Amino acid sequence: RLYGPMRKNSIGVDLSQASERKVLEDHVDQLRGGKALVAGPIISGKVLSEGGAEVVAPSDTSRRLGTVREASDADVDAALDAATAFQPEWDALGGARRARILSDMGDALEANMDRLVALMAEEAGKTFGDGIAEVREAVDFCRYYAVQAEEKFEGRTRLPGPAGETNHISLHGRGVFACISPWNFPLAIFTGQITAALGAGNTVVAKPAEQAPIIAFEAVRIFQKAGLPVGALHLVPGRGETVGAKLTKDLRVSGVCFTGGTDTARLINKTLADRQGPIIPLIAETGGLNGMFVDTTALREQVIDDVLGSAFGSAGQRCSALRLLFLPDATADFILEGLKGAMDELKIGDPGRADTDVGPVIDSEAREMLQAYMARMETEASVIKTLDTPEGGHFFGPSIIELNSLDQIEKETFGPVLHIVRYKPDNIAEVGAALEAKGYGLTLGVHSRLESFAAKVRAAVKAGNTYINRSMTGAVVGVQPFGGEGLSGTGPKAGGPHYMLRFASERVVTVDI
Ligand code: NAD
Ligand code: ALA
Repeated sequence: RLYGPMRKNSIGVDLSQASERKVLEDHVDQLRGGKALVAGPIISGKVLSEGGAEVVAPSDTSRRLGTVREASDADVDAALDAATAFQPEWDALGGARRARILSDMGDALEANMDRLVALMAEEAGKTFGDGIAEVREAVDFCRYYAVQAEEKFEGRTRLPGPAGETNHISLHGRGVFACISPWNFPLAIFTGQITAALGAGNTVVAKPAEQAPIIAFEAVRIFQKAGLPVGALHLVPGRGETVGAKLTKDLRVSGVCFTGGTDTARLINKTLADRQGPIIPLIAETGGLNGMFVDTTALREQVIDDVLGSAFGSAGQRCSALRLLFLPDATADFILEGLKGAMDELKIGDPGRADTDVGPVIDSEAREMLQAYMARMETEASVIKTLDTPEGGHFFGPSIIELNSLDQIEKETFGPVLHIVRYKPDNIAEVGAALEAKGYGLTLGVHSRLESFAAKVRAAVKAGNTYINRSMTGAVVGVQPFGGEGLSGTGPKAGGPHYMLRFASERVVTVDI
């Protein structure tokens, strides 16, 4: 067995050490001073990168990181043909041998930690803390799904039967999986989708988000160097409405694994429903309208720390991020005063420097959406705090808005915007029900020293991941399997024991003597 029942833990970086911070900053400087990177489709190991479009750093739009060539229709066709041709061989390899390859892929990512963290700072605006956590999550996905592949996808299991008859069940890949990933976890989610699909015996055509294609490109190169056969994984960078839409319509695709916005998931669901040919699974992990409920027994300092991290960490660009903070009338002002003071300590700026707490949002479109939202909220609600930002990049200041009523919010606003809702303690069930009625079900936070309060909140609000007396982001693979329900996704949970089964076909063979 690879690791025994527990996977090997990924290695971190100690940012309290000046020497470790310097290594990362040096890697960023090398990227900034070095040759422009080139990326594009990778089909059967062949790189197609000529004639790419520019990729700029979100933290400084005058800085060109490299170029990426979008996959053409012919590239997508070639990728699908190659993935289809190799799939029977990959499936026949068996779970244990695929597990060894996934494990080697994880080790290779870990060995490239510093460069990948630097690349994520440049291409996706991720702070070092976020980048390190993201590489670790990607490594954990490789190792976790390796263990699952070895345990569930190797050999067959005997089932009971009458005398003279044997029955066996075994798990197989479904065929070619299209893996469509978002920019906000350009390495971890990209890797998690792919490794689950591969471990289950599928080959993969992966479409990374258009905002962060270079990280995906580098990851595929690392995986192939680590021993992943070139027929197993093909990369087709490009826009959702072109490359993504072509992939999901294609009958060579036997399953779609998608993470992104709820509206995009609906579109893909419709495309799949309209296809002739086999009915195929869609695994969709989508957005959240996540609430944290605080009562009067909660520890103020702990609440403030966890709210800062959950609402403004990663510049609020996490599906799990805190969007709605429910505060009791009696202590709301006291908590808000502390929160506003703590916000003033946040350093917003260059994600390539170790002392930065909040980096930019991903692009001008994201920033303009947030600016328009704030302008509307200035008139409809009360904006009670917005931090200033540096110039030159897509920066957006973490902000707090106080709502008059929960009716003022229906959808996820993807960025560092926290909404405050005051409540009266007698109304907790009613307030919880109003949040539940919005239809999302991703993360939920509670801060209280009373189990009965937490129980009331949990009874009112259904969520895939509930966190009590801690921050509500940063689920760990295999420890907090992650994913929501309702408008937040289809399940099963990424990094959990049931995830890979959704990528599999089950076959039973019965033999009578
Ligand atoms: P998005 O939906 O715009 O894009 C996600 C991916 O889908 C991208 O690769 C995009 O190119 C592709 N796409 C877009 N249109 C498509 C189409 N018509 N057909 C096929 N593919 C298409 O989302 P985003 O802006 O990249 O990511 C942010 C969203 O992702 C947020 O809503 C966030 O909550 C969600 N998210 C959810 C999770 C989760 O685990 N639940 C994790 C991360 C992000
Ligand atoms: N899995 C990520 C988190 O928990 C989205 O924050």
